[in-house]
Amino acid sequence: MKRGLFITTEGTDGSGKTTQIKLIESYLKGKGFEVVVTREPGGTSIGEKIRSIILDTENSDMAYITEMMLYASARAQLVNELIKPSLSEGKVVICDRFIDSSYVYQGFGRNIDIELIERVNRIALDGIMPDVTLFFDIDPEVALERRIQSTGADRIEREAMDFHRKVYNGYKKLASMYPDRIKAIESNRNIEEIFSDVKAYLDKFS
Ligand code: TYD
Repeated sequence: MKRGLFITTEGTDGSGKTTQIKLIESYLKGKGFEVVVTREPGGTSIGEKIRSIILDTENSDMAYITEMMLYASARAQLVNELIKPSLSEGKVVICDRFIDSSYVYQGFGRNIDIELIERVNRIALDGIMPDVTLFFDIDPEVALERRIQSTGADRIEREAMDFHRKVYNGYKKLASMYPDRIKAIESNRNIEEIFSDVKAYLDKFS
């Protein structure tokens, strides 16, 4: 049977991915595809437990390597339990964040060697890579300003800007290294304009 399509979404925090995923899901369902939506870290009950360990603010002394390997562990479970079986049933899988998040957050953000991340994740991925990666491209400062206008200023978020900038630059770099897989979508626009670009791009694959 024909293998399904594996789509991942990426972007810095507040890039509007979640809204676009909902639109993509209903668009592809409307075209008659069976669509599975999942997210990282998490997506399986074991993965969600790993997620709560990673994101627990009490674990602030977690070593960066531990964190990187926990993301990879949650990924291994998701690949095994959900992504591989769904693709072999011919379904479309949309995953909110995947391997590129580890490259940019743990690699570019935390300075872990990219090759090390690649080696660890080669085990987790078990031969699976996204067919299409949508990178919702918005400058992190612009995204923060938008959030401040709707939710009020946040000192912590401002302090984290240096990190978000590194992550953002990492995405830009990956997008230029893998233009066949990663599509940057200009995301400093309204929801409809962004989605119209997404749709036009996905129509090439579906
Ligand atoms: P989440 O609340 O799901 O953020 P978002 O809605 O922006 O996707 O939290 C996930 C956080 O985990 C996010 O800040 C990115 C980070 N992350 C990594 O650092 N490495 C990874 O491999 C993955 C999948 C996520």
